[in-house]
Amino acid sequence: MRAWDEADAVIRRGAERRAAERDETIRELDEEGIDLDPASPATHRHGDVQLPGDHAHPHPHSGPCERPVVGIGGAGAVGTALGVALDRAGWPVGAVASRDPARRERFRELVPGARGFAEANALVDDVELVILAVPDDVVAPVAAALRLYAGQAMVHTSGLLGAEVLAPAMAAGTQAGAFHPLVAFADLDRALAALRGATIAIEGDEELAAHLAEMAEAIGAVPVRLAPGSKAAYHAAAVLSAGGVVALLDTIREIAGVVGLDEPGALRIYLPLLEQTVANARALGVAAALTGPATRGDAGTLAAHLEALTAGAPDTLPVYRALLERSVRVASDRGALSPEAAERLRTALAGNP
Ligand SMILES: NC(=O)c1ccc[n+]([C@@H]2O[C@H](COP(=O)([O-])OP(=O)(O)OC[C@H]3O[C@@H](n4cnc5c(N)ncnc54)[C@H](OP(=O)(O)O)[C@@H]3O)[C@@H](O)[C@H]2O)c1
Repeated sequence: MRAWDEADAVIRRGAERRAAERDETIRELDEEGIDLDPASPATHRHGDVQLPGDHAHPHPHSGPCERPVVGIGGAGAVGTALGVALDRAGWPVGAVASRDPARRERFRELVPGARGFAEANALVDDVELVILAVPDDVVAPVAAALRLYAGQAMVHTSGLLGAEVLAPAMAAGTQAGAFHPLVAFADLDRALAALRGATIAIEGDEELAAHLAEMAEAIGAVPVRLAPGSKAAYHAAAVLSAGGVVALLDTIREIAGVVGLDEPGALRIYLPLLEQTVANARALGVAAALTGPATRGDAGTLAAHLEALTAGAPDTLPVYRALLERSVRVASDRGALSPEAAERLRTALAGNP
């Protein structure tokens, strides 16, 4: 909690004794189970002292051993799942901002006690840590409409953007970061389950990163810090692991249509093979998991495939060619193909059946 504590210290300078006495009284009452303010965690305010000239504000301030009150900007797939996961992990989720009343209500049903706002800038009155879970393209404009107060922090959940896009919202004593879960948020329950054991890429200075790591671990995830400048490549691999596989499945579905299979039929037949391949890669490594004509040098098989696809599913040819060319490279690097066999396969792939 040092990041928030230090900002608190700046805010409190000059009125510390009075605030400390009051906090001590509140602590004693808390220990005796007396709640002076029986509202949501977001409305607890301790140590609210503003100095002239400071961008200070009576937002909540967590104590030294407390978790910061979190606010979620955007009640979409990621925002809702993180809100629910944090709430279940015992982190105080004080508020949510969503322009859509139905999404806002759903969030509040899932996270009892959270206040709902239509605008993200309303969050700054209620929380200490804002998690901005809005589409990549609007992270910067949404952040630009906010102005944090000393002691507050904001992160976004984009896998592509750096923390610097949040700069317009920052003021003295505030912190910006990123908190990107490597999870496909297609469905709430599945996403909540997938968060356990998932990797969460964290960005921010040392103090904020430490808080974010604690938050990731609280929801069962594994925090990692990326080397500077590597985020776009990290995200590209993530996109291929999720959407890229879906695009491959869609290609398989289209080709299976030539055989007369509908989508459920195609998935029933080909998903077990795909799952087996993934399990092989996990157990044996990527190169060892490669099977098929590219490992055997069967150029005639590739030519037959191209002929069938040209006739029945021509739109799938670029994907087929690109993946088989990559397969030839993997097989060659593995030592499964002689240079001549690899060349025969490449010639077959380049040919027009
Ligand atoms: N989906 C994934 O699998 C995944 C995984 C990891 C990271 N991420 C990242 O997480 C972020 C959110 O993704 P998501 O999938 O949760 O998106 P989403 O389901 O589309 O939700 C986005 C939320 O942002 C709000 N929003 C959209 N445009 C806005 C605007 N102009 N101003 C204010 N709010 C706006 C939405 O609107 P309302 O205000 O109407 O509610 C919604 O609540 C993105 O940066 C994404 O890259 C996504």
